Amino acid sequence: MFSLGMISQTVTVELGDRSYPIWIGRELLAHAGSLCVEQGLSGLCMIVSDSHVAPLYMAACKGALEGAGFAVETALVPAGEPSKSQQQLFALYDQALACGLDRKSIVVALGGGVIGDLAGYLAASYLRGIRFVQIPTSLLAMVDSSVGGKTGINLPQGKNLVGAFHQPEAVCADMDVLRTLPRREYVSGLAEVVKYGVIYDAEFFGFLEECADGLLACDLDVVSRVVARCCEIKAEVVRQDEREAGLRAILNFGHTLGHAIENAGGYGVYLHGEAVAMGMAYAAWVSVRETGLQEADARRIVRLLRRLELPVEMPACRWEDLQRAMTLDKKVSGGVPRFVLAETLGVVNVSCTVEERALRQVYETINESLREFHDGSE
Ligand SMILES: NC(=O)c1ccc[n+]([C@@H]2O[C@H](COP(=O)([O-])OP(=O)(O)OC[C@H]3O[C@@H](n4cnc5c(N)ncnc54)[C@H](O)[C@@H]3O)[C@@H](O)[C@H]2O)c1
Repeated sequence: MFSLGMISQTVTVELGDRSYPIWIGRELLAHAGSLCVEQGLSGLCMIVSDSHVAPLYMAACKGALEGAGFAVETALVPAGEPSKSQQQLFALYDQALACGLDRKSIVVALGGGVIGDLAGYLAASYLRGIRFVQIPTSLLAMVDSSVGGKTGINLPQGKNLVGAFHQPEAVCADMDVLRTLPRREYVSGLAEVVKYGVIYDAEFFGFLEECADGLLACDLDVVSRVVARCCEIKAEVVRQDEREAGLRAILNFGHTLGHAIENAGGYGVYLHGEAVAMGMAYAAWVSVRETGLQEADARRIVRLLRRLELPVEMPACRWEDLQRAMTLDKKVSGGVPRFVLAETLGVVNVSCTVEERALRQVYETINESLREFHDGSE
């Protein structure tokens, strides 16, 4: 009997003739080829993966695509953020040419956000743009980076400085691959999950509180429901504002300080999600002061992050260094960092400018209040 694995939910990113499905479910990798054929894809494809993911999943992915009639080439880059580089990109162009990838061919990104961004940008730029499919293997890639069409590489001067909007043809999120994701990477991805509750959906936030134990234990039934809701929210935000003219900026909640912590702390010290968790705790505290978020709700945000084993206390970075990093961020306009702040759970305001004095004061006092709250009420 022909089976397409167990799709538990299909979320559609509605973008007119560039709309695409996100398939979410179990054992989907083995059926990635048939799913792609159903989506109208065929011909030659190049799977791009990294040195951690390829030994685990390249054979299954290649087999699934070949089994469905695709001619398959593979390309490998070292695992890790440094691979989002011009050097790796140009090596992939060489390989694509050597394999005979033409304008009808397809790039398949099999990996976390690094592979999705790099392979996506390869697809966006090679021969002025060819089609690509995302097979995200990290939690962060499933709930965030594989959806929405942002692709790109880093420059020595900074992250994501070269890129393009290029939507995939489909996203295939197989929950089973999360079993091999290192625990720290998995937990880090949960920060982005919490973010969706805060920025868009208070009910979902409540659901996350209820199922925090299952989430932490990586119960794949819980995880697949959670991934599906995150993708629905991201799909809706992208539908309304594909190129970040306004609404899409809500996705940056916790990221203004989070990016600065990643940067000033030295890349590699904190994972992205860990820095974002600290940034969200901070943004919640600033929100109480500036946008009227109830203190009880700010505490709920921090409590959930803690339950998910994410860091919330500010790191040992000097405010001046973070401040400098925030004003260098590419999303800063006119040298003033913009904060996404919460008004209530599920509702945020995207363009808050807050006086530097207030920002500093919250930064310098938040750890003490977080500790009191930890000792006193939990
Ligand atoms: N395009 C976007 O909209 C967007 C959004 C958020 C983040 N990003 C980008 O995403 C990147 C971070 O993504 P990430 O956190 O997935 O990092 P990553 O791709 O480096 O993956 C994290 C680590 O986990 C490994 N891995 C991934 N899946 C695995 C699996 N199933 N089993 C075993 N190991 C596995 C990887 O090899 C890597 O070592 C950053 O470059 C960031 O800029 C992009």
